[in-house]
Amino acid sequence: MRKVLYPGTFDPVTNGHIDIIKRARELFDGVVVTVAINPGKTPLFSVEERVQMLRESLKDFDNITVDSFDGLVVEHAHQVGAIGIIRGLRAVSDFEFEFQMALMNRKLAGDITTVFLMPHEKYTYLNSSIIRNLAELKSDVSDFVPPAVLKKLKEKFSK
Ligand code: COA
Repeated sequence: MRKVLYPGTFDPVTNGHIDIIKRARELFDGVVVTVAINPGKTPLFSVEERVQMLRESLKDFDNITVDSFDGLVVEHAHQVGAIGIIRGLRAVSDFEFEFQMALMNRKLAGDITTVFLMPHEKYTYLNSSIIRNLAELKSDVSDFVPPAVLKKLKEKFSK
């Protein structure tokens, strides 16, 4: 069973993330999507809400599980029995940070390989901050997020 871990903040998950997850599940036997704590970020949604939105959006796929963790991503990869870490590369601007993280993670755990996947080009410009910003300004984001996320964003910004 060749399993991979896809870590991210997912605040919230977008169709760009879903595109990456679908590609990963075609290549590996199992994908563990994990909501990770990035200490540099102050998320809009709680960890539980982010996990819930991911679970709801991915419920039709049998080889995907969703969890969360607080700690080192390579440690969590070992815990769940993953052989690698999936990261998405949208544009050259992602490269430097991702390259640094991949090399550091390799230094921390030589048995865990980072695999980069490119989402469809229609998602190149997408990120979670833009979605949060558009939703707060009551702009229609239905083309960019799964229905479960759309519902939560509407609830969040209805007050
Ligand atoms: N489609 C759309 N958006 C995407 C995307 C895709 N395919 N891939 C990334 N993004 C966006 C995210 O929405 C996010 O947007 P935002 O910053 O506007 O919210 C941004 O790109 C990057 O987010 P993400 O991929 O979630 O990475 P991150 O930088 O928030 O977190 C972790 C990266 C969680 C993997 C990293 O912090 C980590 O590993 N933490 C654990 C501690 C650890 O192990 N540290 C050592 C690492 S060397």
